[in-house]
Amino acid sequence: MKKITVAIDGFSSTGKSTLAKQLAKQLEYVYVDTGAMYRAVTLYAMKNGYINAESFDKEKLVADLPSIQLTFQFNAELGFGEMFLNGENVEKEIRTIEVSSFVSKVAEVSQVRSKLVEQQQEMGKNKGIVMDGRDIGTVVFPDAELKVFMTASASTRAQRRFDELQQKGDDVTYEEVLKNVEERDYIDTHREDSPLVIADDAIEIDNSYLNKEEQFAAVMELVNDVVKTA
Ligand code: DC
Repeated sequence: MKKITVAIDGFSSTGKSTLAKQLAKQLEYVYVDTGAMYRAVTLYAMKNGYINAESFDKEKLVADLPSIQLTFQFNAELGFGEMFLNGENVEKEIRTIEVSSFVSKVAEVSQVRSKLVEQQQEMGKNKGIVMDGRDIGTVVFPDAELKVFMTASASTRAQRRFDELQQKGDDVTYEEVLKNVEERDYIDTHREDSPLVIADDAIEIDNSYLNKEEQFAAVMELVNDVVKTA
């Protein structure tokens, strides 16, 4: 069967990665979480004191970019690749609310974007890939055979993220999470370089009232239609 590229974009906490992982597993494709890459660069900036609540030294981060090495290492138990930053597994560390609160600022930096986009294009050059992010269908793979754009109300998304963080034992309030979701929506859709927009040929899915199984079934149908004609 012909391999295709599946681009999944959308707002934060819309369940993009859950859907992308399900698809990759079913299709036996590679899954790439591009948000993890932006998060790992953010963690690097935090650890080196380049970003905090008061300031962000973009120049220092940009100067270090050539030595920031990002790799995914497949974990068979989890069924997906974990994020490694300069050889260190940072999969857990990149999911904290602190990283979430700075990541949109780092993702605004054009030099960061071009480094990561280049690496993402390289990973997808042989197709057979499901990639999720904000600019996959518009910038990374504008020729992707299938583009899905996911939305849900901010309160639905905040509740999902809050439940997730609570399960992990993160000490946050629902209000903090909602504020973070709304702030990230604003920055992601208003940044100059590659803002979050729906590609003309993307199929929009609002999953406020869809469960994971219904959503997966709907998108698998789209994949099968596309694969037939690819
Ligand atoms: O998908 P996520 O919430 O883990 O992404 C974290 C942040 O990274 C998000 O707020 C915006 C940024 N991002 C981006 O700008 N472009 C991408 N392709 C993926 C993520």
